Amino acid sequence: MTESIICFNKVTKQFDDDEPVLKNVSFEIEKGKFYTLLGPSGCGKTTILRLIAGFLEATEGDIYLDGKKINSVPANKRPVNTVFQDYALFPHLNVFENVAFGLRIKKLNQKAIDEKVKEALRFVNLSGYEKREISEMSGGQRQRVAIARAIVNEPEVILLDEPLSALDLKLRTEMQYELRDLQKRLGITFIFVTHDQEEALAMSDEIFVLNKGEIQQSGSPIDIYDEPINRFVADFIGESNIVSGKMIQDFEVEFVNRRFECVDQGFNENEIVEVVIRPEDLEITTADKGKLQVEVDWVLFRGVHYEMGCIDIDGNEWLVHTTKKAKIGDKIGLAFDAEAIHVMRLGETEEEFDKRLESYEEA
Ligand SMILES: Nc1ncnc2c1ncn2[C@@H]1O[C@H](COP(=O)(O)OP(=O)(O)OP(=O)(O)O)[C@@H](O)[C@H]1O
Ligand SMILES: [Mg+2]
Repeated sequence: MTESIICFNKVTKQFDDDEPVLKNVSFEIEKGKFYTLLGPSGCGKTTILRLIAGFLEATEGDIYLDGKKINSVPANKRPVNTVFQDYALFPHLNVFENVAFGLRIKKLNQKAIDEKVKEALRFVNLSGYEKREISEMSGGQRQRVAIARAIVNEPEVILLDEPLSALDLKLRTEMQYELRDLQKRLGITFIFVTHDQEEALAMSDEIFVLNKGEIQQSGSPIDIYDEPINRFVADFIGESNIVSGKMIQDFEVEFVNRRFECVDQGFNENEIVEVVIRPEDLEITTADKGKLQVEVDWVLFRGVHYEMGCIDIDGNEWLVHTTKKAKIGDKIGLAFDAEAIHVMRLGETEEEFDKRLESYEEA
């Protein structure tokens, strides 16, 4: 048995007669890990959180918590707390009373409340701020009060709906680090929602990539980055060069009318596929040494690296991240390893995809 804490079994959510906003969604969440729901606006992330929290009921399918079906358990009976995007703090209460709120409703005695609030504030580095008004706290501090208010109830699961989106970039990066660290220290399951792929990659044990109410792919950040299942995921996670191609035979793929050695196998002969190469896996060389010959179309300086758009003979654009310099109009070569080519099967389900990858590993 896995230590699964939350399980969705073929959950569908439909509002009125509209197209369902979640379609047959199944997944398992294991105890004590940091999960991220990642996907574009409107794909159903908040809906999943609201189903877990009990603010919404599934139209079809079952939701389990600790192995028990909770479809009709009310929100206040679920060991789950939510941190909202706008924090939803009580402006008329000070920091202490904001954090103590849930404990007062549970009618704990004053001594227990004092101890728990103190401990929660210590966890988020806000000891000494008890008497401050919410209006006197910065954005990042309010964020931490909201988190303290969630952890003080000692929930089994904390849901965080885009909690960092209102913060500036520097504070956001700091809070990413703090949240990740806090999750490790507490050992509570976190389910975090974002549409920012870099944030998802930096923070998560597991990512679920969603599109239009369906989970496209789930896995560790590295798995999803290195082995995207389809064009949507490849495009959404990180920047990619994606071209259509043909799998000639095992370890040989054709794209832009040329054949290249690759590490992929198990496709049909001449199967039409899509090919991904990450911009950082393309190296610039002299034209004769490259596997592709291109002309530099544009260059942006990005601090650590240059970002370049290069056009090949057929007019395809290749995005390159490199620390080497080239000028607009230069005729250069692009070199890459067989491992840099990632071949994707058209219309493959996650189950089929996982099976295929497993068979590689066995081979
Ligand atoms: N109460 C509701 N009634 C009708 N439609 C709804 C309701 N709540 C959400 N929806 C629709 O469900 C879809 C998914 O919404 P959801 O809030 O889950 O998206 P999201 O992935 O969180 O997006 P965002 O990144 O913009 O927050 C959207 O098309 C939304 O309009
Ligand atoms: Mg949302």
